[in-house]
Amino acid sequence: MGSLSNKRVLLGVTGGIAAYKSAELIRCLQGQNAEVRVVMTPAATEFITPLTLQALSGNPVSLELLDTAAEAAMGHIELARWADLILVAPASADFIARLCHGEGNDLLSTICLASHSPIAVAPAMNKHMWGNTATQKNLHQLREQAVHIFGPAAGYQACGDIGEGRMEDPANLCSMASALFATGLLSGKKVVITAGPTREALDPVRYISNHSSGKMGYALAQAAAEAGANTVLISGPVQLDPPERIKTITVESAMDMLTAALNAVEGADIFIAAAAVADYRPASVAEQKIKKSDDEMYIELVKNPDIIATIATLPLRPLTVGFAAETENLEFYATKKLHQKKLDLIIANDVSDSSIGFNSEDNRVLLVQPGSSKSLPTMNKVLLANKLIEHIAALLPSSTLQTPQP
Ligand code: C5P
Repeated sequence: MGSLSNKRVLLGVTGGIAAYKSAELIRCLQGQNAEVRVVMTPAATEFITPLTLQALSGNPVSLELLDTAAEAAMGHIELARWADLILVAPASADFIARLCHGEGNDLLSTICLASHSPIAVAPAMNKHMWGNTATQKNLHQLREQAVHIFGPAAGYQACGDIGEGRMEDPANLCSMASALFATGLLSGKKVVITAGPTREALDPVRYISNHSSGKMGYALAQAAAEAGANTVLISGPVQLDPPERIKTITVESAMDMLTAALNAVEGADIFIAAAAVADYRPASVAEQKIKKSDDEMYIELVKNPDIIATIATLPLRPLTVGFAAETENLEFYATKKLHQKKLDLIIANDVSDSSIGFNSEDNRVLLVQPGSSKSLPTMNKVLLANKLIEHIAALLPSSTLQTPQP
């Protein structure tokens, strides 16, 4: 699998003889597990039919800005939001000029204007058009605007000339596109992550829970998916939207989370327990709402199963990563937990500092693994998640599955 796994590529096709190569380009992108949607300029449809590109991409091809039916299905702003990358191939001299000047007079240029995602263009034109000062000035400006210029290649041209201006080969374009997405570190790997709190019911309306926001686990799931992993997120009740393109299983109690984790972990390479699992649950759940008849009330609690410790002792287990929230002696307690639970890595944080941890946007962690530890500076949970995924990916052995630690 390539590093375009889980990526959404919006392929813009403009008018030029190289438009026929878009068909092969779609196949290459899909071969790297990208999802592809195509937007064509009117001139492009003179060179290759929308139907061909629709059949190959498996998605409707968008053609016009003012098409009410198409806008109702997925409008230009939604397409701009949808794309992780806009790749315009072939990009004509005219389109390059329009992109450079921020014009929004057709669907593709409007999407480019509305998008925050990276844009790459693969110029394709006659060698004199390519060499023209105006074209070169436009390309210079696009580079300044952080637009990626892929190619062009040199060689035989449809007009009979030989020189620079041929569209770069689809396979090369695919490699250049994947290179834009940093890692692809977990391509072909399966990652299971638990997140959020659990709720332990007392009766039909009451429960015991905690303040975990789920943000760290969700950010890790996003980062794992971004790194190309087939990601399963097992989430307790949180106020976060389920992340796109990640299989999310919602659970309530620790017992439910354990069942979901045991099911999901089959074939997994990595298990990350970011959930704040309740340590105890009521020994019994009242069928009816408990009445406040007495002045005092006692709840009998029983211990919940330790999910991560259960996973860590499976005969064929994934690389197992836990969290430790401590208020003192961070490294000492984290190391103890690492050994007790037989983990490969503990991500420890000091929850006595209210600016980090549980409900905040930031976190500062200490990474503790057998024989070594490393602290990371305070950072946003999303950035931290990317760093953690990089660190965890580097711990993976070349073979997929681990055996339990002695
Ligand atoms: O023992 P403690 O709760 O401090 O351990 C924290 C780590 O263990 C976290 O990774 C948490 O997700 C995991 N855990 C678990 N099941 C439990 C309790 C904790 O997976 N019942």
